[in-house]
Amino acid sequence: MVTRFFSAIFGIGLAVAIPPAHGADEIEAKAQPCAACHGDKGVPTDPKTIPVIWGQEQSYLMKQLRDFRNGERASAIMSPIAKDLAEGDLRKIAAYFAAKTWPARRASAKPPLPPKGIAQCQACHQPNFQGGMPAPRLAGLSYEYLVAAIRAFATEQRTNNLDMPKFMQMLTERERNAIARYLSAL
Ligand code: HEC
Ligand code: HEC
Repeated sequence: MVTRFFSAIFGIGLAVAIPPAHGADEIEAKAQPCAACHGDKGVPTDPKTIPVIWGQEQSYLMKQLRDFRNGERASAIMSPIAKDLAEGDLRKIAAYFAAKTWPARRASAKPPLPPKGIAQCQACHQPNFQGGMPAPRLAGLSYEYLVAAIRAFATEQRTNNLDMPKFMQMLTERERNAIARYLSAL
């Protein structure tokens, strides 16, 4: 009686839960190695060099994985990792991380004052810097990562976007650093 009760429940549970859970489990397993650096709660193990990917724009994540694979964006660490992923999984992995929540941080007591030159960034990165369609979220990335990414565009070391190098070159190094400081405090 009890066994039949359980097997009935279990049977239904399996029939209903397994098909959707299967695909999700598969992507979850493939995304597991990413946690070693990008963090198992979304906080990177070294935020100075590793960006947050939890809650980042899906199309941006997808494009970066493709760019790391085809060499449009160079990274000694990410290029081999992205090349190891199956082409058909890139979209699912991007969706998996985009659906997660950007890791919460305690808000700074006093919101920092917007530095010179930042207004033009909002057209794409959105007024709150939380990203939109092709443009990634910037708010809350670390100061060091932002400075490195901005410098990589400015020096045309990173050229996987037509506009970003030009925009970064229009700013002085001082202005760029002030912008990175501001964004990292949001
Ligand atoms: C050994 C550490 C490590 C592992 C493991 C790792 N990453 Fe990364 N990831 C990095 C570093 C470092 C960068 C920054 C590269 C750069 O500066 O250009 C990065 C950057 C990225 C970016 C670009 C984000 C942005 O804001 O520009 C994406 C997307 C990404 N990783 C996805 C993944 C996925 C998906 C996995 C698992 C399949 C993964 N990473 C595994 C270290 C790692
Ligand atoms: C015309 C739209 C546009 C404007 C304006 C713009 N950006 Fe971007 N930005 C983008 C896009 C699109 C990307 C993604 C590039 C890629 O594919 O790697 C990007 C990427 C970035 C990144 C890399 C983030 C990461 O996770 O690696 C930083 C940092 C950044 N922008 C800072 C800025 C700042 C600071 C300004 C203003 C001075 C600015 N952007 C203005 C569109 C824009």
